[in-house]
Amino acid sequence: MPAAVLVSAALLVTGVAQTASAHEAPLRTLAGRADVRIGTAVDMTALAEDSTYRRTTAREFNSVTAENVMKWESVEPRRGAYDWSKADALVRFARAHGQAVRGHTLLWHNQLPSWLTTGVADGSISAAELRGILHDHITTEVKHFKGEIYQWDVVNEVFDDDGTLRNSIWLQQLGPSYIADAFRWAHAADPKAKLFLNDYNVEGINAKSTAYYELASRLRAEGVPVQGFGIQGHLGIQYGFPGDVSDNLARFAELGMQTAFTEVDVRMILPADAEKLATQATYFRGLLDACLATRGCKSFTVWGYTDKYSWVPGVFTGQGAATLMDEGFVTKPAYAAVREGLASGR
Ligand code: XIL
Repeated sequence: MPAAVLVSAALLVTGVAQTASAHEAPLRTLAGRADVRIGTAVDMTALAEDSTYRRTTAREFNSVTAENVMKWESVEPRRGAYDWSKADALVRFARAHGQAVRGHTLLWHNQLPSWLTTGVADGSISAAELRGILHDHITTEVKHFKGEIYQWDVVNEVFDDDGTLRNSIWLQQLGPSYIADAFRWAHAADPKAKLFLNDYNVEGINAKSTAYYELASRLRAEGVPVQGFGIQGHLGIQYGFPGDVSDNLARFAELGMQTAFTEVDVRMILPADAEKLATQATYFRGLLDACLATRGCKSFTVWGYTDKYSWVPGVFTGQGAATLMDEGFVTKPAYAAVREGLASGR
């Protein structure tokens, strides 16, 4: 065997040679040629403290999403007292590096400020008042970032897996019309931003994604400004790859809607090994290929790109290794798969 092959095989085994390096075109360059944005969720604490993270985020991606700092509990921790500092820092970082910003998220049942959830629970905030609070929140946040955000996740995770509306405080207090209201209010505040529904377990055709399809058709027929369907893409190799992903995206495209993968990661039961990492790579590639095959799928965002800062191990016990790079920013087969997918284009 020639020495060079032996050396590269040895490096592959030890994993030392694979940090994404300057001599290869970064993902964002290839994404540009494929007419798609390649994005990542950004952890603002890591961005402030870790220069490798900062450098890699700037080099590889041309779209960023706030992992947490645009959520309601972050921007309005006390009623009426907005704190935009961390979110503004992300927008500045993005501007400095020629990156577009996805807005995440205006209305969700999680990461709500406690003044709001306790107020609803103890009855001190009435339903009518809650509707006004939601209107003001959406209007204030979307106006604050007006012109800076190309896609907003307006409502997040509003259906259960069986396709019925989630029994959240929003549904309980305001009834199902809160969804159309949220889109109308967001549109009034920034008419140019593309407004998205967003959820998990909606990669393939199933009860939940069909509920979204029917909701979107109905809202659009009523003139409600719903322009995009965001598919989070939190997968695990132990569950198998979802079927019909391209067909699912295609039916939204037929409605005239954009689609996007918004939070892709592919977890596994730890420890990782070569076989699991190879399977993981095919999952990333499968979602990316569905996006590239679909007119109107213009962004593919991973929910963090290094295992060093992934949310997965903290939430899914015993699972992890869900991103494109390991904890030392060494690229995995999944990185190569995304790279090759982008390089093959549409
Ligand atoms: C997660 C973040 O990654 C964590 O840091 C946080 O503790 C909880 O939220 N669906 C979403 C994201 O829409 O906002 C979630 O992000 C992951 C699931």
